[in-house]
Amino acid sequence: MKFLRTLVATALAVAVAMPLAVQAAELGADRHAKVGVKCEACHGTDKANPKTPDFATCTGCHKVDALVEKTKGVKPTNPHVSPHYGTELDCTNCHMMHSESQDFCAQCHNFKYQVP
Ligand code: HEC
Ligand code: HEC
Ligand code: HEC
Ligand code: HEC
Repeated sequence: MKFLRTLVATALAVAVAMPLAVQAAELGADRHAKVGVKCEACHGTDKANPKTPDFATCTGCHKVDALVEKTKGVKPTNPHVSPHYGTELDCTNCHMMHSESQDFCAQCHNFKYQVP
């Protein structure tokens, strides 16, 4: 019982804290929802069997050539093209949709990317 009450209290505290947390760091899926991109656009319409989005899912809307062009001025080097992976590195190595995005290149380089 005590455990259950603690659990409920914790859940409530989290629920109350949520709006602030969301404001502080809105995740990729939330930003997509804001521009009208719903869950189904990435996960398909079959709710019983949702698909995991891949490169083709993202590039269905974000054309690779246009993307590479758009970020060609990013210093010190364009994140969307590299000598190692060309333009074919999976988007979700950097752009997470339900958690904080990551700088994949930082494993080896210090480019200091701010990944949206
Ligand atoms: C812009 C694309 C995009 C949108 C929109 C999106 N997701 Fe996702 N979702 C992803 C990606 C990519 C992953 C893989 C893990 C990650 O990157 O966070 C994922 C993972 C998940 C997972 C974990 C299971 C899995 O397939 O790995 C669930 C559950 C999920 N999403 C639910 C939702 C729901 C519910 C919505 C709508 C509110 C939504 N997603 C909107 C891209 C999206
Ligand atoms: C149904 C179309 C659609 C799909 C699928 C989609 N996006 Fe988007 N995305 C948009 C639109 C529209 C915007 C807002 C306009 C813009 O910045 O291009 C956007 C914005 C973005 C941004 C800009 C920063 C931000 O978050 O606001 C990133 C990064 C991004 N998308 C990555 C992804 C990735 C990674 C995937 C695949 C997991 C994906 N998108 C799938 C339509 C889509
Ligand atoms: C190595 C990490 C990395 C990978 C992989 C990556 N991106 Fe990005 N992306 C970035 C960074 C960093 C930025 C911000 C660039 C800047 O500073 O303007 C960005 C910006 C964007 C933007 C916003 C562009 C703008 O200026 O409006 C979109 C959309 C986007 N990425 C989509 C994608 C898609 C789709 C893929 C897969 C085809 C992808 N990204 C793969 C790191 C990455
Ligand atoms: C597993 C380690 C590793 C990862 C991850 C990695 N790199 Fe590299 N990269 C290297 C090594 C090693 C070199 C060659 C050494 C050098 O010239 O600095 C290199 C060289 C480069 C060069 C050429 C540098 C020059 O001086 O001509 C570019 C550009 C580059 N990487 C971009 C990227 C980008 C963009 C990413 C992320 C999408 C990335 N790298 C991810 C290890 C890595």
